Amino acid sequence: MSTNSSQISATNRLEGKVALITGGASGIGESSARLFVKQGAKVVIADVQDELGLSLCKEIGSEVISYIHCDVTCDSDVQKAVDLAISKYGKLDIMFSNAAVSGNSPPMILATENEDFKRVFDVNVFGAFLAAKHAARVMIPAKKGCILFTSSALSVTCAGGPHPYVASKHAVVGLAKNLCVELGQYGIRVNVVSPFVVVTPMMRKSMGLIVMEKEKIQEAVSCAANLKGVVLDGEDIAYAALYLASDESKYVSGMNLLVDGGFSLTNPSFAVAMKSLFS
Ligand SMILES: NC(=O)c1ccc[n+]([C@@H]2O[C@H](COP(=O)([O-])OP(=O)(O)OC[C@H]3O[C@@H](n4cnc5c(N)ncnc54)[C@H](O)[C@@H]3O)[C@@H](O)[C@H]2O)c1
Repeated sequence: MSTNSSQISATNRLEGKVALITGGASGIGESSARLFVKQGAKVVIADVQDELGLSLCKEIGSEVISYIHCDVTCDSDVQKAVDLAISKYGKLDIMFSNAAVSGNSPPMILATENEDFKRVFDVNVFGAFLAAKHAARVMIPAKKGCILFTSSALSVTCAGGPHPYVASKHAVVGLAKNLCVELGQYGIRVNVVSPFVVVTPMMRKSMGLIVMEKEKIQEAVSCAANLKGVVLDGEDIAYAALYLASDESKYVSGMNLLVDGGFSLTNPSFAVAMKSLFS
């Protein structure tokens, strides 16, 4: 029998910490916001989906979580989001730069629109840069902090993803590594969490699966997965982010933590070709 991440009992792993989560209104960001609050953090969600973000805060409780409209491609929006964390909760310990878009391109270079490439980079890479820049603005004087990015298993393996998205996720890892080297002198850790497939609104949209039942999609994803008998969900990524955000990882920096059940190590093409000799 598999264990749910929520059955893990340790509590208050983020007691006294303040976190800002971009893209926190939905999917992996939402799961992280819920978990971070449960573990004792005060959280600011920065997203463009106001209704979702506000209703999440209402449900969880406005004393521990706040929402701010923030387009991560807009410098002054990101600045305001960081400033809100400071004015409301007194500091910023954790910047979780998680917002992203998948874009609309098919996985073919000739069918990739230039504008789509630019838009995906604007949100996924420039947005991550702004999140890091404004976090560093307050973390450098504090001489501590944790900057965390969401990349993807596609940052280390190729599985037919769209070029703008895949390239953007590689770029995020490069940015994180370079920041890790610069910011170590200030006691700031910089890490990445890289998920395999989680059924979220972005995943559904990118695959054209908006209305299909979640279980059906998960079944198909499980067929492709390396690790069998468990299904990856947003909370599993949130737990990886929790580890990297907490003091349990106090000496971990520059890491790209794959949460992919070993998927990125697999390459079935040789076995498939050999099998075809016998079919
Ligand atoms: N779902 C997966 O299978 C998967 C796999 C690997 C990596 N990821 C990564 O996980 C992260 C979260 O994605 P998700 O799957 O939870 O998708 P999601 O669509 O549920 O969440 C993404 C959030 O980002 C927000 N967002 C988009 N553009 C924004 C902008 N300009 N400013 C502020 N917020 C913006 C959206 O409103 C949304 O709330 C992304 O970085 C994604 O690339 C997801």
